[in-house]
Amino acid sequence: MDLRQPKNYEEWRGKSFYKRWQHKEGIPVYTGYFIEDVFALPLGEWERKGGRGAYLNLGGQEESDLQLTEIPRGGSLKPERHLFEEIILVLDGTGATTIRQEGSQARTFEWQPRSLFAVPLNAWHQHFNGSATEAARLLSYTNLPLTLNLYHNDDFVFNNAFVFSDRFKGEDDYFLKPGTKWGSHNWETNFIDDVLRFELALWNEKGFQIQHMRLAMADNVIGCHLHEIQVGTYDQAHRHRPGAHVLILEGKGYELCWLEGEAKTKLDFRPGSIFAPLNAMYHQHFNSGKSKLKQIAFRSRSPKWSAGEQELVTGDKMDLIRYENEDAEVRQIFENELRKEGVSIVDFQQVRESM
Ligand SMILES: [Fe+2]
Repeated sequence: MDLRQPKNYEEWRGKSFYKRWQHKEGIPVYTGYFIEDVFALPLGEWERKGGRGAYLNLGGQEESDLQLTEIPRGGSLKPERHLFEEIILVLDGTGATTIRQEGSQARTFEWQPRSLFAVPLNAWHQHFNGSATEAARLLSYTNLPLTLNLYHNDDFVFNNAFVFSDRFKGEDDYFLKPGTKWGSHNWETNFIDDVLRFELALWNEKGFQIQHMRLAMADNVIGCHLHEIQVGTYDQAHRHRPGAHVLILEGKGYELCWLEGEAKTKLDFRPGSIFAPLNAMYHQHFNSGKSKLKQIAFRSRSPKWSAGEQELVTGDKMDLIRYENEDAEVRQIFENELRKEGVSIVDFQQVRESM
């Protein structure tokens, strides 16, 4: 099927190139802005990749997506290269990935559950499952929608000989070196062995005693951050443009989200829950459990290659609702949830003094 030759007006003016191309892939597509448990999502046979998979198109946007891929036990996915950026979190399983830049030696590194790495733009890469008995599951965050729609030519995107040697020259330590910390809470690295063991930094901007680290990987424009909410506390509400995808790694909690002037929706979190706020949707993370709530958020802009203000809606203070300005029901809901768990709320007088 030639996706560039519409037969009638409906096709000409219809779905985006990304949507039409994705339909051809023949795997499940999950939409909306909340996935209760990514580990439980049914997958379909994905012939192009050589495994099973699904797309997640969340947050009402077509700039970034999540791709869930299963590598068969004792097997591998097909090698590929492409002109869109990709950050991969290992959900399940152990294995290895080989990455090769044209003209240089292949580099291979091993991964385990919660390893995080980025594929350098347009470098050849292939994923291998290290287990003969268990399947492995990878979660990719990509800007495939933006890239495919921009060029609307899948041959250009998936079969392009350009070598981005400015990003990756085949260095032997590219996926081994720990990286560099920039400022107080930015880290540039290409591989993290286990995101739950990565050291974060205190960052009171979004909430009381938040631990946070923004990650820039493989010189990508897309990025992510690790975020940790302490027991008995919660973040301040904020809003921004769509494209952020929050995955719960550990702990128990919930999200309150709402569009301006509308009622608040409560979404309960467990490890594997994914929340992707809609455009200008206020959202607020709460730790209602007995241990830290740990999450990773994929973002369409890395701290290195873009200014954060691009993601703001109004560009002013309205994008963050400070504790002292929030609706009374926010605190009431939180106190009710904590009571069920037998957890005490932190002293919010202390909160105000610390901000
Ligand atoms: Fe957010």
